[in-house]
Amino acid sequence: MCGIVGYIGTEDAKEILLKGLEKLEYRGYDSAGIAVRNGEDVRVYKEKGRIAELRKMVDDSFDTTTGIGHTRWATHGVPNRENSHPHQSESGRFTLVHNGVIENYEQLREAYLTGVTFKSDTDTEIIVQLVEHFSKEGLDTEAAFVEVLKLLHGSYALGLLDTENPDVIYVAKNKSPLLVGLGDGFNVIASDAMAMLQVTDTYTELHDGEIVLITKENIEIKDLEGNVITREPYKAEIDASDIEKGTYAHYMLKEIHEQPAVMRRIIQKYQDDKGNLTIDKDIVKAAREADRVYIVACGTSYHAGLVGKEYLEKWAGIPTEVHVASEFVYNMPLLSKKPLFIFISQSGETADSRAVLVAVKELGYPALTITNVPGSTLSREADHTLILHAGPEIAVASTKAYTAQIAVLAIFAQVVAADAGVKTEIDLLPELAKVTSAITTIVDDAKLMEDIASKYLSTTRNAFFIGRTMDFYVGLEGALKLKEISYIQAEGFAGGELKHGTIALIEDGVPVIALATQESVNLSIRGNVKEVVARGALPCIISMRGLEKEGDAYVIPAVHEMLSPLVSVVTLQLISYYAALHRGADVDKPRNLAKSVTVE
Ligand code: F6R
Repeated sequence: MCGIVGYIGTEDAKEILLKGLEKLEYRGYDSAGIAVRNGEDVRVYKEKGRIAELRKMVDDSFDTTTGIGHTRWATHGVPNRENSHPHQSESGRFTLVHNGVIENYEQLREAYLTGVTFKSDTDTEIIVQLVEHFSKEGLDTEAAFVEVLKLLHGSYALGLLDTENPDVIYVAKNKSPLLVGLGDGFNVIASDAMAMLQVTDTYTELHDGEIVLITKENIEIKDLEGNVITREPYKAEIDASDIEKGTYAHYMLKEIHEQPAVMRRIIQKYQDDKGNLTIDKDIVKAAREADRVYIVACGTSYHAGLVGKEYLEKWAGIPTEVHVASEFVYNMPLLSKKPLFIFISQSGETADSRAVLVAVKELGYPALTITNVPGSTLSREADHTLILHAGPEIAVASTKAYTAQIAVLAIFAQVVAADAGVKTEIDLLPELAKVTSAITTIVDDAKLMEDIASKYLSTTRNAFFIGRTMDFYVGLEGALKLKEISYIQAEGFAGGELKHGTIALIEDGVPVIALATQESVNLSIRGNVKEVVARGALPCIISMRGLEKEGDAYVIPAVHEMLSPLVSVVTLQLISYYAALHRGADVDKPRNLAKSVTVE
């Protein structure tokens, strides 16, 4: 979703900003722009489309050491040049980039800006016009900025330039992510640390309701009452090679291939000196005290939550519900007496999940975030965090974070069960080792997945995924993966549910991808396949060694069936990847999607 960078220092700001925006491309965007200044001369370059197009517009000869940049994912107003950021005030004195959504922008325009001519349809332009409005009333820029912030309802990360105070970038944050990066003789702002890793690995977090005045030598953080805040910086633990594609054609392919390494890292991170699985004692205590767990998440993370529910119920014996965050926030179920909330979020920034977290904290309930991003908003605001250790996930379609989420949930449930003295049906460590080698086998068989994609998905308009029990959850994830990157309309169904309506859509040649990794339902899912074949469907069965039958499209190595989602999903990730590739889609940056969904 929208991304922000800013730089103030002594080097060429244009290049630093453009490189920073390229690093934010993975978040998803439809237009981009930068504003750079030399003294009072501020140049704005912005355009619909890719950063590569923006790059062509920028005047190389313009000498500049200060600027702000933005990638926009349209919310208010279509993606076009006018609606792209940066936006300028009527006189051109103030220039602004914004990430987030201002809910009361129409009321503010009517209350303060009736005489102003607007150039865009965005909520953002209100902010920059309001700063000019208050500065015309006599407030200095900082005071005008604060006055505006006090009026805004909604989410924002902001970077503001003022031609009359050219040595400062004014910055503010509420709900949308933003970091300040520190350097020697320069400072930067960025939506995430990866964007500015090219110049610094030292960052300071910003909290909601703070503003920052950034010069090349200094940063000053204040609250809206003007109280100065001091905060220790931290080193971003990201290896620059983690955010490069290396020899892979796409980030998604690289991230699929990284899954065995991620499994090994998780096993190592969650093991104590004696080689036993371990989880922070306070987190285990919180789970033991809970009479019910509520897992709240979106998209792929929600699908991982469905698998996690099985572990928490079957191993740790805790009743567990899984909810879509955007629904939960408006329609909270009747809660148990001692709930524990678990937020699963790769990015740790998803606005829908955060809205639930805020509501839950207001009610006083304990919350655990399972995330890939230490220091992310959901991590900071929950009582406890478990880190995924998957490394940065750049492709918009989540792959290694999903398997990491399931592995961490499995470890969590096992440790809670062990703490309660319950002996579970599974010895998790050796079984996770088997999973790791099974995933390796599958990525080595990538060519076979490419053949499956060619055979079943090269021309079809739609596809169905079916499975029962654990396989049903994986089918939901497989369908999401396929639709989001290949644009094939794909739906996941419980094997037995298709005949209750959706089977009407089965006709000659429609691919039905069936998962058959669960012994107890192997015969019934194969029965469901027969039902669709009788109606002309093209079946593609992914089964597991020991349960296979002649004609299955691919047989995954045998693993404990509670852990089969970690393995079978990798086949579906690869099949989706090749289907998208063959259809000429932009695999890493699918249309309309954002990596980090920071608006509700
Ligand atoms: C799909 C995908 C999304 C995310 C969802 C939640 O491949 O990545 O469905 O899973 O937007 O994002 P996080 O996990 O960052 O909260």
